[in-house]
Amino acid sequence: MKQHIEALLQAAVETLKDQGMLDADVTPRIQLDRPRDKSHGDFACNLALTLAKPAKKNPRELAQAIIDALPENDVLAQCDIAGPGFINFKINHQRIIDQLENAWQDERLGVGSAGTQQTIVIDYSSPNLAKEMHVGHLRSTIIGDAVSRTLELQGHNVIRQNHVGDWGTQFGMLLAHMEDVQSESNDVALQLSDLETFYKASKKRFDAEPEFADRARALVVKLQGGDDYCLSLWRQFIDISLTHCQQVYDRLGVKLTRDDVMAESAYNDQLHNIVEVLREKGLLVEDQGAQCVFMDEFKGKEDEPLPVIVQKKDGGFLYATTDLAAVRYRAQTLKADRAIYVVDARQSLHFNQIFTLSRKAGLASDSLQLEHMGFGMVMGKDGRPFKSRDGGVTKLSDLLTEAERRAQVLIAAKGTDLSESEQAEVASVVGIAAVKYADLSKNRTSDYVFDWDTMISFEGNTAPYLLYAFTRVSSIFHKAGMQLNDVNGAIILAAEQDTALANKLAQFPEIIASVANKGMPHFLCGYLFELAGAFSSFYEACPILSNEDEALKASRLKLAALTARTLQQGLQLLGIPTLKRM
Ligand code: ARG
Repeated sequence: MKQHIEALLQAAVETLKDQGMLDADVTPRIQLDRPRDKSHGDFACNLALTLAKPAKKNPRELAQAIIDALPENDVLAQCDIAGPGFINFKINHQRIIDQLENAWQDERLGVGSAGTQQTIVIDYSSPNLAKEMHVGHLRSTIIGDAVSRTLELQGHNVIRQNHVGDWGTQFGMLLAHMEDVQSESNDVALQLSDLETFYKASKKRFDAEPEFADRARALVVKLQGGDDYCLSLWRQFIDISLTHCQQVYDRLGVKLTRDDVMAESAYNDQLHNIVEVLREKGLLVEDQGAQCVFMDEFKGKEDEPLPVIVQKKDGGFLYATTDLAAVRYRAQTLKADRAIYVVDARQSLHFNQIFTLSRKAGLASDSLQLEHMGFGMVMGKDGRPFKSRDGGVTKLSDLLTEAERRAQVLIAAKGTDLSESEQAEVASVVGIAAVKYADLSKNRTSDYVFDWDTMISFEGNTAPYLLYAFTRVSSIFHKAGMQLNDVNGAIILAAEQDTALANKLAQFPEIIASVANKGMPHFLCGYLFELAGAFSSFYEACPILSNEDEALKASRLKLAALTARTLQQGLQLLGIPTLKRM
């Protein structure tokens, strides 16, 4: 609908150019907004205002000329000029009804495919395996998951890549500690069941015992040289660590599996070649023994060059080298049209450099869209990075357990007729959903404050609120002894609240498109919150089951059923399951 009107406006601009009202070379950015105040219509645009100044025309007159030049169509019911020259549009009700009837028939609620189907590689979660997953991994894991699901709904071929950090110097100390634990005939697996403690113990010894530190360094060299014994110890460690990650993914309802793991170590045997490619392209410079690339695009504050180091003096490779190999793999082997990296915003320089260098070195063609979807940090209420009570990093698994406990308190306080075991199940869904939703509903580019009280609450734009809203819609059908599918009859827009709800429902495909394009799940959260609000007003003002007018009753049941399906689909894209009762 939105695109359709934008196309009409585009056509009007072309007509005005032909008539000489506008210069032939103007190419305005046509953008429609959904005004908050419905008395302003369904859509509004400031096109006349932006065009008036360069065209030296009166904006209101230009607005009228634009309206007059709109091609004939059956979408717009009314166009009005408002204020200094805004144009407000009212949509033809029949068009909204037609769109919703189509959505009703469609499993994907009319989301449809977004133009051409692409192969989209998305790198997310990607924790370092030396330690247990902590709160810092939450954002990449759930934002990446929501974006992947959204792209999939649009029909793209989505390839998930969990680029786990399983290689590097920390593994030396972990292997050295493993050796000792094993020789004391302790059960290594048991000790590794608490990875965090194991990591800390290794680190402590590494810092305190020179003999241990030497052995750790020697083990890394052997590991990287492909020594069988070291590799088998390392594999044992990685396997346990990945099992921990999988448990977290399963609890979070994140779609990642072992098959999506494409670890840093998988690129080892290509790193020499990457350096060779850079050398052949004449991009490499030796700086204090290290192999570097300097690009004019990347300068520091004092105009000093910012190198990408691809090989250290001792021959070792770096994070950047592996990422260059990964770009090549995604471009050439996976044949990606678009490669997305859901990684901490603090790595933005790294990714900018990698993307630019990949193109210069011919590892990725210009047609491959490379995108870093950065995100801010999780902060505590004190405004500092979120920490556990003992001041350490918070293990993700502990955080989720705490969420479940708090949700249980919330459910009990609300009063419920669920049995104790049902309550525990509901609390688990609500608690995890609350943590995820609190994160997903914030603009990912900023830091956000982790606050239990606002997230585990029925008030405001929260998961408990939306889950509860869903149960309210479902209960209508429960009361009527109906399934959603039993609904039939045509949509009629009688009351103002019918129209408002229908308009909201019709907006769903637009929202999905913007989440998919910009990688911003908070658009979807804001939308679902508004939809739940529109439903509440509708429910209060418009009798449904008690309605004596059978046609109106059937229409309202259909709008309610569409609301239920849209809420469910939307939450599912966020990786949040709905509940029948709570
Ligand atoms: N393991 C890295 C970290 O924890 C993130 C990796 C992101 N992906 C990538 N291709 N560099 O910081």
